[in-house]
Amino acid sequence: MGNYTLGIIKPDAVRKNYTGKIIDRFLQGGFKIVAARLEHLSREQAEKFYAVHKERPFFNDLIEFMTSGPCMPFVAEHKNAVESYRKFIGATNPTEAAEGTIRRDFAESIQNNAVHGSDSDENAEKEIAFFFTVSQIHTI
Ligand code: CMP
Repeated sequence: MGNYTLGIIKPDAVRKNYTGKIIDRFLQGGFKIVAARLEHLSREQAEKFYAVHKERPFFNDLIEFMTSGPCMPFVAEHKNAVESYRKFIGATNPTEAAEGTIRRDFAESIQNNAVHGSDSDENAEKEIAFFFTVSQIHTI
């Protein structure tokens, strides 16, 4: 199990000025934020990032949403990062997310669900490299 995962604070949460609150939750939860920046994804970038979902009925709406405003990709460091992070953010659908999780407290809907998290170590590595070069990741 790896120590790094890729998170994104999605456009819904950035728009509502939840960025600081969400980052603080991660820090208080024992995660280190070792890279972060605001980025307004192009359609091409969003389609590439979510290519695995391209046959899903929600794909076009997801791309519209993810390109609707700036988001904040970041790299989180934690022991067993992928699993720890996913537990911390809660289920994809906020109505199913456990109490005290980020999605339960900040998400609007199954699509506008405040944050993204990598689903495996293999994808974490790919997704981190999608947004950040090695020299942009700063171990604290
Ligand atoms: P994320 O963890 O970023 O991965 C894929 C995204 O697609 C997911 O969060 C949601 O934003 C969106 N998504 C997943 N399932 C659905 C669904 N059933 N309806 C609409 N959007 C979805």
